[in-house]
Formats: sequence, structure tokens, C-alpha cells
Amino acid sequence: MTHIAIFASGAGSNALKIIEAFAHSPRAKVSLIVCNKAGAGVLQIAENKQIATILLDKEQFFRGNAYTSELKAFSIDLIVLAGFLWKVPPALIRAYPGKIINIHPALLPKYGGRGMYGHHVHQAVIDHKEKESGITIHYVDELYDHGNIIFQARCPVLPEDTPETLAKRIHQLEHTHYPRVIGELVS
Ligand code: GAR
Repeated sequence: MTHIAIFASGAGSNALKIIEAFAHSPRAKVSLIVCNKAGAGVLQIAENKQIATILLDKEQFFRGNAYTSELKAFSIDLIVLAGFLWKVPPALIRAYPGKIINIHPALLPKYGGRGMYGHHVHQAVIDHKEKESGITIHYVDELYDHGNIIFQARCPVLPEDTPETLAKRIHQLEHTHYPRVIGELVS
């Protein structure tokens, strides 16, 4: 059984899809939700689904043990970032080599890097008059949105799109593919 920790900062719609996808799986389960923001929607989802949570303290995450011993105590094998807005510290990457993945709401290497999250990404895609956007699922390394790409899917950007309408289309892609790709990684 692969024990998954989902790291998220926001509403947690991807976290919910992943939790549901593995609820009855013999291969993997979401054992822990890790969040850096008190009051984030993902914490309510964890409570509803009766999944343990850790609320990160910035000092301990970036200058302490990066919660490696807490994650090991939960037997975590795979870390899944789903709308997690803090950079992953080197200590955590060293503790989980090749075992941390992220989803980004654009076609990397375009529209990635510091400050490129959520609606900022979609606004930039629209401002550059891109005809298509999409999602990228990739391994996490020490640079923002940089590690090896596992999977990409594309969708059109329509002339009338706003960041909100594009976000909706992107979220649909994410919800379809993220649980499936994780399923392949744990099989
Ligand atoms: C998702 O669209 C994810 O790709 C994005 O945040 C959203 C979280 O939505 N992540 C980034 O922008 C990371 N740079 P959710 O909380 O509903 O899953």
C-alpha cells in the first residue's frame, strides 16, 4: 500500500478527486493532508473525509526538519502537490527523491516559475493570446515548476475566455488526469 500525502494551500478540488479515486484502492490511499494556510478549503475536505492533517509552520518547514520525521511517522511514500504554493525545501526533496510530484495549470516550460499560480497563470496565457493551454504533471526538483515532465494534456483557449472560464476548463483536465497518472505511478 502506497501512503500518499497531499500538500495543498487552497480550495482542494484536486485533493478531493484524488482522495475519492483511491478511497477503495488496495494499492494506495491518501493518508495525510498537509497545508500551509489555516482556513483553507482543503482542511475542511480532510475533516469531512476523516484524513489526518498537518498545518505547516513556516520556520520548521524551511529552516527545520521540513517535516520529514512527521511524514515518515505517517509512513508516507509519495508526496502529491495539488495547488501547494510554497516552494519545496531541499531537505524534503532529499528525503523523498523521485517521490514528489506537482500539477501545474499550464503547458510547462511556458508560464511557470515564481508567482505563476492559479489565476496569474491563466491571465498570462490570455494576455499572450495563446491558442491553447493545458496541464503539466511533473516531478519536483529544487527549482520552481522545473522537474521532469510525466504527462501533459491540452485544451483550447477561446477568444472570449477570462481567467475564470479558462481555469474551469483546466480544472476539468486536472480532475480527469491527476488521479489517473498517480494511479499509474503507484501500480
Ligand atoms: C490547480 O489548478 C493547480 O494546478 C494550481 O492551483 C490550482 C489548485 O486548485 N497550482 C498552481 O498554480 C501551482 N503553481 P484546487 O485547490 O482546487 O485543487
